[in-house]
Amino acid sequence: MNDDTLDPHASPFRTSLLEEAEGNGSNPTANPTMGELISLRFSRRGLLKGSLAVSAIASTVGPLALLTAEKAQATASTASTGGSAFTFVEVEAGVDQTHHVAEGYNADVLLRWGDGLFPDSPAFDPKNQSAEAQRRQFGYNNDFVGYIPLNGSPEHGLLVVNHEYTNEHLMFPGIVTVADGKLKVAPADQKRVDIEMAAHGGSIVEIQKVNGAWQVVKDGKLNRRITSTTEMVLSGPVAGHDRVKTKEDPTGTKVLGTLNNCAGGVTPWGTYVMAEENFHGYFLGKLPEGHPEAANYKRYGVPEGTYEWGNFYDRFDLSKEPNSANRYGWIVEVDVNDPTSVPKKRTAMGRFKHEGAESIVAKDGRVVFYLGDDERFDYVYKFVTAGKFDPNNRAANMDLLDSGTLYVARFEADGALKWLPLIHGEGPLTAANGFNSQADVLIETRKAGDLLGATKMDRPEDIQPNGVNGKVYVMLTNNTRRKDDQVDAANPRAKNAFGHIIELTEADGDFAATAGKWEVLLKCGDPSIAAVGASFSTDTTRNGWFGMPDNCAVDSAGRLWVATDGNNPKETGRTDGLWAVDVAGAARATSKLFFRVPVGAEMCGPQFTPDDRTAFVAVQHPGDGGTDWAPFGRPSYYEDLSTRWPDFKDDMPVRPAVVVITKKDGGTIGA
Ligand code: FEO
Ligand code: CA
Ligand code: CA
Repeated sequence: MNDDTLDPHASPFRTSLLEEAEGNGSNPTANPTMGELISLRFSRRGLLKGSLAVSAIASTVGPLALLTAEKAQATASTASTGGSAFTFVEVEAGVDQTHHVAEGYNADVLLRWGDGLFPDSPAFDPKNQSAEAQRRQFGYNNDFVGYIPLNGSPEHGLLVVNHEYTNEHLMFPGIVTVADGKLKVAPADQKRVDIEMAAHGGSIVEIQKVNGAWQVVKDGKLNRRITSTTEMVLSGPVAGHDRVKTKEDPTGTKVLGTLNNCAGGVTPWGTYVMAEENFHGYFLGKLPEGHPEAANYKRYGVPEGTYEWGNFYDRFDLSKEPNSANRYGWIVEVDVNDPTSVPKKRTAMGRFKHEGAESIVAKDGRVVFYLGDDERFDYVYKFVTAGKFDPNNRAANMDLLDSGTLYVARFEADGALKWLPLIHGEGPLTAANGFNSQADVLIETRKAGDLLGATKMDRPEDIQPNGVNGKVYVMLTNNTRRKDDQVDAANPRAKNAFGHIIELTEADGDFAATAGKWEVLLKCGDPSIAAVGASFSTDTTRNGWFGMPDNCAVDSAGRLWVATDGNNPKETGRTDGLWAVDVAGAARATSKLFFRVPVGAEMCGPQFTPDDRTAFVAVQHPGDGGTDWAPFGRPSYYEDLSTRWPDFKDDMPVRPAVVVITKKDGGTIGA
């Protein structure tokens, strides 16, 4: 078959369907935009050194106009490190079948899909998979990666990893056929669905650095797999509400499984939080005629029907369990210290397509979680706990996430940031608008944000507070459907193909504040093409620019690292990767490429150990999406390898994998 048939935008594969759905945009409101206003809110340095006054042109540029990017040279081809917090020699951007890390570093696969997590885990056998085996093995597409030290150690801890979704066409040999030039994936049977459900969720696994090399401790007492069938409870204001009761669970408190866990976080008290993102894709079937959840579900794009689980399990079939979709789309908290603990869906933190849940302790001891709703034109949120974090009493923190205030962000054109509380009975959040309780506000968080006049964003992904400089970084991955008359100060480009990063400054340096300021840190894309309107500093080389910021991390020195999802090599000459981004001083908005993934993959993680001497990165769906790279131009990773890729070896990073990066001299990453 030719590679065009594997074009991610044309293929029937579920990755593409879900990604499309992720960005469909279901926000029907007319929340104020600034009309023709194009943002002038860039730093003085940005104005002096970035691509000037091209925002208006950018509004007419779509991805197809950018085919020359591969040949482009950045405005400054020789990078200086003047003022940069990063001294590594950057990787050359490009595309091939493997990963690349900066010179002087090791990048080693630590865990791959199918690797055993327990002493009794069966060996990985892709041609003989079972749900039972998968429940004892590392799951599929790894997104969020967290590190929870054991006894405070930077060399011995628990790795917590989300398994966001499954790519059946890559996982299961023999299920893809070609008819009339189109690829078709065979319908799922129950056995396959059970494997898919077992490959979702998360992994908790003890790891340790021994003689300089990180390894998995298979007999770690806390090792655990969480899947889409693990029993969980709903806790907080929505628990037990009529709208979350089903035939399977008339109490409205017990849920089987978690879905589409994208990014997440580790709390200050050492629990693991998993964000349920594109939950709409798992539901099929029609709601009964006139069902009261119809408008709610429409706002969330439910049902979307990508997965076939509803053919075998009623809870994914809305005709049989119409309330079931209200039981997903939450933040899930897991107590990693007890492998038998029941994960809790923390409903106080709202229901939407949760991207992540990174947190920080505010001045007064309350804990602040930054939350993105990843869909075109949806919102940025934060949750502030009612109670205070007690660093000396872990047990006292274990239900902090059940009560607090959820806020949605409004970005004013003058650079002011307002956090609008989603509290039942306040403002428009009353019975007159269909909210009879706080549970209603939380189940329909998006509608509450609509009514409060929140700012419609270009797909909010990970949001990271930085305890060193007091700022917060918001990744906005892209929004090619924003029209010229929909641009606003915080989303300044129409047809925003490459995304941007916003920096927040909370009032009085207080992360719990209800007001603050914002500015654009950088607009992404190739800065050498004026029409793109990117605003990297001119010290950024042709390797250093990126598009589609997604996951991110701040290391203990407060340095920002950005992982990307969606850099199409055909259009940009580069795969996704991990870029180091300066945020301060003369080097602000300078970016350097540190690591890049195999073709077809998305870069996730990243996570640093507390000593900054190890970075964990997650390579999601290598080889997916159809590319021109011959070894990956195949329906399944496991088919035709010998003819397509004679040099293939099984230790190549071609399964979804967590890769561990260390400096060869044992020093600090990036410096
Ligand atoms: Fe799963 Fe928004 O990325
Ligand atoms: Ca993401
Ligand atoms: Ca993503």
